[in-house]
Amino acid sequence: MAPRIATFLSIALSLWTLVAAESIPKTDYDVIVVGGGPSGLSALSGVSRVRRTALLFDSQEYRNGPTRNMHDVIGNDGTPPAEFRALAREQILKYPTAHIKNATVKSITSIGTDAVTAFSVVDASGRNYTARKIVLGTGMRDVLPDTPGLKEAWGKGIFWCPWCDGYEHRDQPFGILGNLSDVLGSVLEVNTQFSDIIAFVNGTQTPDGEAQATASHADWKEQLKAWNIQIENRTIASIERLQDGETHQNKTTDMQFDKFRVHFTTGEPVERSAFITNFAAVQQSSLPSQLHLNVTKEKIVVDASSMRTNVTGVYGVGDANSDGSTNVPHAMFSGKKAAVYLHVQLSREDSASKVSKRTGLSQRELEKEATRAIGRNLEPQWEKIQKRN
Ligand SMILES: *[C@@H]1O[C@H](CO)[C@@H](O)[C@H](O)[C@H]1NC(C)=O
Ligand SMILES: *[C@@H]1O[C@H](CO)[C@@H](O)[C@H](O)[C@H]1NC(C)=O
Ligand SMILES: *[C@@H]1O[C@H](CO)[C@@H](O)[C@H](O)[C@H]1NC(C)=O
Ligand SMILES: *[C@@H]1O[C@H](CO)[C@@H](O)[C@H](O)[C@H]1NC(C)=O
Ligand SMILES: *[C@@H]1O[C@H](CO)[C@@H](O)[C@H](O)[C@H]1NC(C)=O
Ligand SMILES: *[C@@H]1O[C@H](CO)[C@@H](O)[C@H](O)[C@H]1NC(C)=O
Ligand SMILES: *[C@@H]1O[C@H](CO)[C@@H](O)[C@H](O)[C@H]1NC(C)=O
Ligand SMILES: *[C@@H]1O[C@H](CO)[C@@H](O)[C@H](O)[C@H]1NC(C)=O
Repeated sequence: MAPRIATFLSIALSLWTLVAAESIPKTDYDVIVVGGGPSGLSALSGVSRVRRTALLFDSQEYRNGPTRNMHDVIGNDGTPPAEFRALAREQILKYPTAHIKNATVKSITSIGTDAVTAFSVVDASGRNYTARKIVLGTGMRDVLPDTPGLKEAWGKGIFWCPWCDGYEHRDQPFGILGNLSDVLGSVLEVNTQFSDIIAFVNGTQTPDGEAQATASHADWKEQLKAWNIQIENRTIASIERLQDGETHQNKTTDMQFDKFRVHFTTGEPVERSAFITNFAAVQQSSLPSQLHLNVTKEKIVVDASSMRTNVTGVYGVGDANSDGSTNVPHAMFSGKKAAVYLHVQLSREDSASKVSKRTGLSQRELEKEATRAIGRNLEPQWEKIQKRN
């Protein structure tokens, strides 16, 4: 090969490498995780163990924020949620590629392509960060009726998850809050924890409400009777706390002694120690709709084997996703699952770029490819360089 051609080819090859390398966007991080609850922290842990650079945004708002203690999370039974998160953060931050920022994300925009994704993430202070993949662990928000006393008692004697809470109030006088059509479902979940149960259906025992109950369980009336459930249909005016289980508890027996008085718009109040609820929950963040993700029945629709959403490069984990589970173990599992999948996906993209867009080219093929790719377009450039010398 003449020296001239050799130099030409060497320039050509280095240009080719440049072109191929450019197909992987230069971003601030490999991954940006939105959400500092157990799903986001688990995703951050998973990517950090394989040294992916990652930034997690923590808005410091958590669905289980008001909850006294976590339960049914092995190794952490009874741990306050804030302690659990703090220990997780401390352990994950020992990995030098892991970063956490206490800030709320305002917007996420795609700046890549489907083949090689990239996103721009802007936080509340207007700072712009870029990453190749996005994990949303943005959670759900419980929509509570504005009944006085309810919000204050949320997670502290009034709760929606009978596994997370409940046991500490076992065998105490119990209430079910929510629509008539949801009462039997709750009874089937809590009947091993409570026997003295009143369902406070708040005026929903109407012909319509009964028809809805019948649609789910034809013999709902007989079943409720068999479990000895009393239905209280009066309209609830307020829920008054009489005693706080935070200060009235027995740690030896794992009992918490909350006490409430339910006031109605008419007649005498009724006292109960704890309640399970059937209220609606909605997406906590507007990011899923901003990104035009498929959100169906208030859940980010994901492929359960990878946690991928229908927008390439965006993953949905934790309570907010559609894989049918809302609890801490699921949040951790789904975060981990997304971390594994997206790491492999990133590596595939990196691998494809290393061997050029066509996979498996030999060095000789690559040289031929480079010569062909340059074609005549670079011939004039070459001439210019020669003249200057
Ligand atoms: C972020 O918030 C956590 C929990 O409130 C706190 O422990 C941590 O110090 C905060 N980090 C920064 C950098 O402010
Ligand atoms: C953030 O920075 C990236 C890369 O420089 C840019 O493409 C994107 O437009 C920026 N986004 C915003 C909202 O400024
Ligand atoms: C009960 O029903 C009333 C009237 O429809 C409503 O304003 C209130 O929020 C409901 N309370 C609960 C606890 O469902
Ligand atoms: C339950 O309360 C609603 C609203 O006040 C009322 O329309 C309905 O008739 C009541 N149902 C029964 C069985 O009393
Ligand atoms: C807690 O319960 C145990 C067992 O019933 C009892 O012996 C103990 O006195 C209780 N402690 C308090 C502070 O009530
Ligand atoms: C309860 O019933 C009311 C009135 O029919 C309805 O607006 C509300 O969405 C129901 N709540 C739930 C959690 O299904
Ligand atoms: C959105 O998800 C629902 C539920 O899985 C599915 O039926 C629907 O086809 C999806 N829509 C799009 C546009 O992907
Ligand atoms: C994802 O689903 C949403 C809602 O169904 C739809 O509007 C959007 O076009 C879908 N996006 C992609 C990339 O398929």
